[in-house]
Amino acid sequence: MVGYAFMGAAHSQAWRTVNRVFDLPARASMVAVCGRDAARLAEAAARLGWAEAVTDWRELIARDDIDVIDVCTPGDSHAEIAIAALEAGKHVLCEKPLANTVDEARAMVAAAAKARAAGVRSACGFNYRRVPAVSLMRNMVAAGRLGAIRHVRAAYLQDWIVDPSFPLVWRLQKEKAGSGALGDIGAHIIDLTQFVTGQRITGVSGLTETFIKERPLPSSSTGLSASAASGPAVPGSAVSAATGEVTVDDAALFIARLDGGAVATYEATRFATGRKNGLRVEVNGEHGSLAFDLERLNELEFFDATRPAAEQGWSRILVTEGEHPYLGAWWPPGHIIGYEHSFTHEMRDFIEAVATGADPTPSFEDALQVQLVLDAVARSDSSWISVS
Ligand SMILES: NC(=O)c1ccc[n+]([C@@H]2O[C@H](COP(=O)([O-])OP(=O)(O)OC[C@H]3O[C@@H](n4cnc5c(N)ncnc54)[C@H](O)[C@@H]3O)[C@@H](O)[C@H]2O)c1
Repeated sequence: MVGYAFMGAAHSQAWRTVNRVFDLPARASMVAVCGRDAARLAEAAARLGWAEAVTDWRELIARDDIDVIDVCTPGDSHAEIAIAALEAGKHVLCEKPLANTVDEARAMVAAAAKARAAGVRSACGFNYRRVPAVSLMRNMVAAGRLGAIRHVRAAYLQDWIVDPSFPLVWRLQKEKAGSGALGDIGAHIIDLTQFVTGQRITGVSGLTETFIKERPLPSSSTGLSASAASGPAVPGSAVSAATGEVTVDDAALFIARLDGGAVATYEATRFATGRKNGLRVEVNGEHGSLAFDLERLNELEFFDATRPAAEQGWSRILVTEGEHPYLGAWWPPGHIIGYEHSFTHEMRDFIEAVATGADPTPSFEDALQVQLVLDAVARSDSSWISVS
């Protein structure tokens, strides 16, 4: 695994857990983790359960005892690491968004296609697909329970940079992150809605906004790492007096058409004061509607318009039954699961695919399509942009 901070910790937890819960044709062995700061890396490796630690990712790729490279770094290094790993015959799991630019994503797809011909697999880490209620939502749409889909309504809302004194961390720098709320959290709802509906976005019109254009530079103690979980910076301690330009969007809003005839609205923002990690998706079809809210991750709301009018109403499906996706391996019905399980399910599906010679999903091609949507929104400035 390359990178050991937020996603590094989430992925490590999943790699540690996956074979203890799921019966799989192969076992994950946590051979080595890579980071750049030797002291912090050594501490993280011990805490997260990695046998060895190295400070150059090329060392991982050169080793014969490593089969999989898990890329958990910011977007500016995804392409270089993933392509080198695929060329060396390593299966690759790469965090989202796939890359910082469409060109990088295309190069990654080319490398993945070449590697696939030699039996080498790749996938992008859109983990919310693996929340059981989201998988169930997809299954119900695919089974025709909603009929033709008319509307998709998606919002991913955070507030971790509302404070103008929050420092200029890597997520606010275009050369490191590619884009802001758009690529970080907008990418999730693009993938999630396309996954749930089985439809692809064919065109968008959107706008982006950067509310705070200048921020204090991080002090050395802040580093470049910050996650939604890290909370606001304490003025005067984690930041320096110097400031720098914010080069990404704080918020992105867009409308879209999907190839199955649905129309959709999307909102991704880091300025929704009070919303910490609010991800909500609703799908309206001719026979009913489904709604998912990450803050109620074990539930799926369902309106069945085929029932007699007198009995119609929104129902709450508690998604904890053994029949529900992934849940047969966990606890008895009613015993809920959480955020980290989506990553365990991601590793479950990845290991099973690699071990059985199948292609894991979402593929790099799927993730390139998300990248094309991100690029179209970034260029739109309210005009209509086709996505092809
Ligand atoms: N799936 C999700 O829900 C989700 C959530 C957060 C982030 N992400 C994605 O995960 C990726 C990482 O984000 P994060 O939040 O974990 O960031 P982070 O800042 O918490 O961690 C990044 C890690 O990468 C390391 N790193 C950076 N460049 C490196 C290099 N050249 N060689 C070795 N190590 C390097 C850093 O030292 C750090 O350990 C991003 O692509 C981000 O979009 C996904």
